[in-house]
Amino acid sequence: MKLAGKKALITGGNSGIGLATAKLFIKEGAQVAITGRDQKTLDYAIQTLGPKAKAYRADVIDSAARKDLFAKIEKDFGHLDIVFANAGIAGQTKAGSTDEDTFENILRINLTGAFFTVEAALPLLKDGSSIIFNGSVIGSLGQAGYAAYAASKAGIRGMARSLAADLSPRGIRVNVIAPGATDTPIWNRTGRPSAEAEALAKRLASTIPLGRLGEPEEIAKAVLFLASDDSSYVQAIELFVDGGAVGTPFGGPAFRG
Ligand SMILES: NC(=O)c1ccc[n+]([C@@H]2O[C@H](COP(=O)([O-])OP(=O)(O)OC[C@H]3O[C@@H](n4cnc5c(N)ncnc54)[C@H](OP(=O)(O)O)[C@@H]3O)[C@@H](O)[C@H]2O)c1
Repeated sequence: MKLAGKKALITGGNSGIGLATAKLFIKEGAQVAITGRDQKTLDYAIQTLGPKAKAYRADVIDSAARKDLFAKIEKDFGHLDIVFANAGIAGQTKAGSTDEDTFENILRINLTGAFFTVEAALPLLKDGSSIIFNGSVIGSLGQAGYAAYAASKAGIRGMARSLAADLSPRGIRVNVIAPGATDTPIWNRTGRPSAEAEALAKRLASTIPLGRLGEPEEIAKAVLFLASDDSSYVQAIELFVDGGAVGTPFGGPAFRG
């Protein structure tokens, strides 16, 4: 088992990539704290994950909730070895029709929330721990209508590199996982009709060299690599798990002659 005896925090562990990662971490021997805002999916996740998981309702942008969360984690877990700052939202911010609140909310959750999660975790993190941020291919690919999301995920990359320099003296590794389009509930949260979401997924798949969306379990396996000793000499990287979307953007079925 790759995480025997390890203690991990996964923000947004009640859905999608976070939940798949929590399942895999537990299978590999870890105890896992998960967070989210939705009590219903937190309850469901705990039923699925079993006794090695604990769920805490906390919004990453609520500083009082964060203080309370880390006091509870300290009481329940004592310390942490792994933080997966995964919680995030998508959302469009089209040029010409975006208000400040919409733009800032995306940055506040995806970037500021991730920073202050790590900031609050630092006193509990053992030397030699692993921090993983969830980035996105959208932080590198220019996708129309996603300026705030792209800025938040490009910000994650820059922030992780800076934090890796801050925390290397303690042997703490800081890396980014950058998923490509992955089949999770995030696609249905915008209120987009399901037929439209399906058409979008199909269109996206045609641009991905491997010809399909990723599964959350495939992202989880790469997070496990960054969390475990298998990556003991890996520091400040952005690991794309994207079916080739960034490395060979014209390799998808849509571009084949
Ligand atoms: N799916 C993709 O195609 C894709 C691609 C690249 C990157 N990502 C990144 O992967 C991460 C996880 O997304 P996902 O695809 O697994 O989507 P998801 O199923 O919608 O999961 C998002 C998670 O974040 C939590 N969350 C959102 N805002 C929060 C807040 N303010 N405070 C606390 N928790 C919050 C949600 O919990 P509640 O529902 O309880 O609020 C949920 O557990 C995100 O950072 C996303 O940007 C996803």
